[in-house]
Amino acid sequence: METKTRSESKADQKTNLQRTLVLAKPDAVHRGLVGQIINRFEERGLAMMGLRLLQMDARLAEKLYEPHVGKTFYPPLVEYMTSGPIVAMVWEGVEAISIIRTMLGATNPAQANPGTIRGDFAQRVDRNIVHGSDSPESASREIPIFFEASQLMPGHPAHTTWL
Ligand code: RTP
Ligand code: MG
Repeated sequence: METKTRSESKADQKTNLQRTLVLAKPDAVHRGLVGQIINRFEERGLAMMGLRLLQMDARLAEKLYEPHVGKTFYPPLVEYMTSGPIVAMVWEGVEAISIIRTMLGATNPAQANPGTIRGDFAQRVDRNIVHGSDSPESASREIPIFFEASQLMPGHPAHTTWL
């Protein structure tokens, strides 16, 4: 009988299967870009393991961006992130954290390459439409801010079958 979850199996350790938090920020939701953002990750073969539409309050924004407390952009960042609904997602895939960071593009969309999400859809660093965890440690810290374990899928058959 299978007793291990997919993320604990030997094959997954070898291929470094990772989970990462992605947020479609308030401007992405207002501008109707959520479907296109999701589509890019699906086309890449990543698997959606959790999805929520929610309105962040200051307490939640402060938890997420705790590493940026004290920086000059921090107060406007909290205001931006609480200005409307966001879509929180957990995506899984081999090296998903760096793959998604590369797909998001540079923090400042003015420096983001065309073909990246920020490079195609955004202009300003303070309206850069998406968030992605920047390391395994960040992903482990950030995912539980938005998702209970019971709100996340335990595994996805696509990884072992096709990728
Ligand atoms: P994120 O956390 O949202 O995925 O973005 P990131 O890792 O690429 O950038 P980070 O340094 O973590 O900054 C967090 C968010 O703060 C805003 N920001 N504004 N005005 C500025 O100079 C400035 N710098 C950063 C952006 O919304 C950035 O995504
Ligand atoms: Mg960051």
